[in-house]
Amino acid sequence: MTWWVKWFQKDEAEKTIFSPDGRTKCQFILKNSQVFYDVTRDNKPIVKRSRLDITISGEEPLHNRLKLIRSRSSRHQEMIEMLWGEDRYINNTYTEGVFYLAEASKAHRIYTIRFRVFDNAVAFRYEIPPQPKFSQVVIKDELTEFNIDLNASVWQIPAYQPDRYEYNYERCTVYDLKNSVHTPLTIKTPNGFYLSIHEAALYDYGSMTIKLNHDQILSSDITPLSDGSKAHVNLPFQTPWRLVMIANSAIELTTNRTMYCLNDPPSEDFSWVETLKFIGIWWAMYVGEWTWAPGERHGATTAHAKEYIDAAVRLGIKGLLIEGWNEGWEGDWLENGINNKFTVATKDFDLPEVARYAAAKNIEIVGHHETVGFIDNYENQLEDAYNYYAANNVHYIKTGYAGSMITINGRREYHHSQLGVKHYQKTVELAAKKKICLDIHEPIKGTGIERTWPNLLSREGARGQEYEGGALQPSHACLLPYTRLLSGGMDYTNGIFDIKNSVKRISTTLARQAAYFVTIYSGMAMAADRPFIYEERFPKVFNFIREVPTNFERSVPLAGEIGEYYIVARKDRYTPNWYIGGVTNGTGRRVHVNLDFLDEGSYYATIYTDSEDAHFRDNPFGINILEKHVGRSDSLDIYMAPGGGFAVSLKKI
Ligand code: NOJ
Repeated sequence: MTWWVKWFQKDEAEKTIFSPDGRTKCQFILKNSQVFYDVTRDNKPIVKRSRLDITISGEEPLHNRLKLIRSRSSRHQEMIEMLWGEDRYINNTYTEGVFYLAEASKAHRIYTIRFRVFDNAVAFRYEIPPQPKFSQVVIKDELTEFNIDLNASVWQIPAYQPDRYEYNYERCTVYDLKNSVHTPLTIKTPNGFYLSIHEAALYDYGSMTIKLNHDQILSSDITPLSDGSKAHVNLPFQTPWRLVMIANSAIELTTNRTMYCLNDPPSEDFSWVETLKFIGIWWAMYVGEWTWAPGERHGATTAHAKEYIDAAVRLGIKGLLIEGWNEGWEGDWLENGINNKFTVATKDFDLPEVARYAAAKNIEIVGHHETVGFIDNYENQLEDAYNYYAANNVHYIKTGYAGSMITINGRREYHHSQLGVKHYQKTVELAAKKKICLDIHEPIKGTGIERTWPNLLSREGARGQEYEGGALQPSHACLLPYTRLLSGGMDYTNGIFDIKNSVKRISTTLARQAAYFVTIYSGMAMAADRPFIYEERFPKVFNFIREVPTNFERSVPLAGEIGEYYIVARKDRYTPNWYIGGVTNGTGRRVHVNLDFLDEGSYYATIYTDSEDAHFRDNPFGINILEKHVGRSDSLDIYMAPGGGFAVSLKKI
């Protein structure tokens, strides 16, 4: 339904867009040739008056007698269905307000600002339509403000740093933000809102980081290219959506799926995509047993691959990742990565033979491409590399972009620059053509494009368990659900059971490693430890990992606070069974979990909890496994030890 369509030319305008429930309000304001917006919910300020502006290289600012030519509002209501993920259905209901602007000057440049106001979010983007004066433009800057209370708390990781998104989250006030930080940027305001500033549908543009500008207002800082510009684009062009998620509690924020609503549905058939659980020739390298490079301790040999395939069959796990299989790992691989070959195996690894063996045992190989950020080298081989894997029935690839910058077109660029964004997109689209799914490490952040490209099954994009052994605190995994995971699933490399390993000591309890398979969603979920650890030492706990699904019908976050704890229940997409996971920071806590989210009927519960004397430092293996019948009128009283957690499977009887 169109509420108002008006043709006029206004120097000044104020228009309010109401969310479907009428409680979230977004105002568009044009005053003195400058555009502003603000956002309230229940008449309480969320984003105070903020500027919207975009500047084009070689052009005057777009403020030359700017007029509102026309505006239009419409209501949209839809339930979208995701092929895989945490929730099958997402409510995509919003009011759209579109504002068509033009200059009354000789230049007569035109642009549009499109808002979508949801009950629990506000999003908008700039659109530059085709116009006589230009068909291509260089975006000099985007000046989008998010005028949030300076006393609000933010949980942030720094942008433009060598380890990309892999930093520990730190809490400070908006006022104390010194440098640019990444999104999703999670915020708690003094008037009680939990917000996250993020972006959706990031294509062909620098990724948005956030900084405090000279006026002490949070504003966009678009990642520059090495020529200093933000993006080179062809018209028509639209920026990614700028998104402010809104919630009344931390736990409610974790259910905000607006990012996916702002992405398009897939334009081709992706019914061939299947989520996957996999083990890998991987952690053995991290604990120093094997090496990526060929030699006496080479991990990716044909013999080891076959052993791991047999182990995967015994463990009931569908996939096997094989890292270090190709030429390029010798010496300092971070330095030498420019020579990596993606179609040439090491002498002791026979891909066709391993692929045949895997196929006979019904195991999926997860291939591996470590580019070390040498994009030119990778793109030169991309088509051949994907063809090589496809010809060997490899339907999954983990890619990696280790290194502080990427090299592309001979230039050093940020991973999250426009050229980086375009490269990652190229891999996703080419992989789709070859019917290959990706798990991207050192990726560009998630902006919901997996709705359009469901073959992008997972990403890393935050500190994962490979930082264990000193650089991870128990609070980290209690921060992720409220921060990084708002941008989609993560390959955290869960399930390291060899907690007391002397090379990589893990800062969690055993039960918590099982919990991660529920608390940290990933369309490609790695059971990351070596198979003998699962089979010989902890077969009972491994049962949970074997059974936990990777595709859910519905997720119900139950309780939590940012950085303190998080408990979530998820229903399997294909059976009536439910799974619960909980994690706590360095503080032990008792929680009461009400099972009223269950459907009618009886369930067989297996409960993996920390023992009363468990502790991530002193007694990480202290675990109790309890089995009992429960129903929706029951509840569970559970103890989570310091650095601990719990996992529950609930099978319908
Ligand atoms: C960093 C990735 O996160 C890790 O999983 C991978 O094993 C190494 N790079 C080598 O590619």
